[in-house]
Amino acid sequence: MTSTPTPRRRAYVETYGCQMNISDGELMEGILESDGYEIVESPEEADVVLVNTCAIREHAEQRVLGRVAQLGGLKKERPDVVVGVTGCMAQRLGESLLDGGRRVDLVMGPDGYRDLPEALEKLRGPGWTPGNGSGSTDEVAPARKKVTELAVLDLSLGENYQGLEQRRSEGPSAWVPIQRGCDHRCTYCIVPYVRGDEKNRDPREVLQEIRGLAESGVSDVTLLGQTVNSYAVDGWGFADLLQSVARVDGIRRVWFTSPHPNDVTPEMVEVMATEPAVCEQLHLPAQSGADRVLKRMLRRYTVEGFLEKVEMVREAIPDVSLSTDIIVAFPGETEEEFQATLELMRRVRFDDAFTYKYSSREGTPATRLPEEDFVPDDVAQERLERLIDLRLEIQREINRAEVGRVEEVLVEKEARGEGQMLGRTRRNKVVAFPGEPELVGQYTKVVLETTTGATFVGRELGPQELVGTG
Ligand code: SAH
Ligand code: SF4
Ligand code: F3S
Repeated sequence: MTSTPTPRRRAYVETYGCQMNISDGELMEGILESDGYEIVESPEEADVVLVNTCAIREHAEQRVLGRVAQLGGLKKERPDVVVGVTGCMAQRLGESLLDGGRRVDLVMGPDGYRDLPEALEKLRGPGWTPGNGSGSTDEVAPARKKVTELAVLDLSLGENYQGLEQRRSEGPSAWVPIQRGCDHRCTYCIVPYVRGDEKNRDPREVLQEIRGLAESGVSDVTLLGQTVNSYAVDGWGFADLLQSVARVDGIRRVWFTSPHPNDVTPEMVEVMATEPAVCEQLHLPAQSGADRVLKRMLRRYTVEGFLEKVEMVREAIPDVSLSTDIIVAFPGETEEEFQATLELMRRVRFDDAFTYKYSSREGTPATRLPEEDFVPDDVAQERLERLIDLRLEIQREINRAEVGRVEEVLVEKEARGEGQMLGRTRRNKVVAFPGEPELVGQYTKVVLETTTGATFVGRELGPQELVGTG
């Protein structure tokens, strides 16, 4: 290996939002690393600071705007630090992020990352390109800047980042995006506006990437897409891709998120049921348990239709663990309709649920519903709390009944307590158990001994106890 002759430029990426955005953060790190940057763990060490943002709810945006302003403060001592805002909120707010005293130099939406090195060069001039001998940051006078601010906001149907590599953290698990954007237009949702239409990656490229990951020691992959199971390319449907991924040598666990209920097909369920590597877990966002609300959300299914999908999955995989997303207080939701959501929760008995208060997103169709439909915040809050109580109650009951089971866990990290490790079962349940840090990345059998309601405490089985556990 040859050593780098000059100090390398250092970049720091801080990501908010969903798994897709986390995966995009890794993509940006990969792109910057290929361009000669060193990726660092704190903004204080970095010449380029990128905040990779989420726009899904207002609350999330407000928090991140505060953080951006705080990071802009780095420029007080180091005026040449580039502060960039990327991701969904960057796409949504666009150039307006460049003013307002936040000291942001770069705004870049989710389809712009391929041009990140070029954009940074434009901002700092070619003399600033990493690895070309231009010296330390201090030598770069602001006068040499080519442009002072830059916005890269085009959404492109062609961009699926083919040929670029994510920089993944070490460990047995990896996110693999197979689809970007979304062709649905759920009336509350900002995603299609900030990420554009659905575009799927070539299946051969996905498989090649996963083979490479497996060779480097990854055994657990999560396929990502906004409606991941609508995947279709050159005659490959989602079920075909899922099956092929599950059969890659060295891959022991396959997950995917988020599927759309309408694209849950018998073929997909068959692959889930028959491929040993596909985990016994399904995240199936319901959003509401009332038909009129689902219709106004433009979810394109009824409660009955949703329940049929749940039944199809449970018939094929009786032990499947289910999770969902629910929005309360969508405009016009009545108390009765909210109760229908509670009823859906009781009928399905989800192992887990992500619950949200409706948040109005500028430009989405739901914002144009009649003013009097908007549910007051105190009512929304109260509904959210009732929903959470029910979710916890059901989860506690399900998990208590699982105490005593022996489960395979993939050991993920050390828990905070002394000598405790954290692992995840194939049904996506978290288990803490006494063990050594060397176990990280390994699979082991654990008996679930107690539950806090949400997570488990267990004990690793000894070699004698393993006989007959499969
Ligand atoms: N593509 C995924 C969801 C992506 S957003 C899907 O269709 O399932 C993740 C979750 O955020 C959604 O399932 C929804 O429950 C929630 N969400 C999206 N927009 C929202 C809004 N405006 N207010 C509140 N919750 C929202
Ligand atoms: Fe948003 Fe609906 Fe697309 Fe999911 S399917 S990303 S909720 S528009
Ligand atoms: Fe947020 Fe964008 Fe994901 S809006 S939830 S980061 S796709």
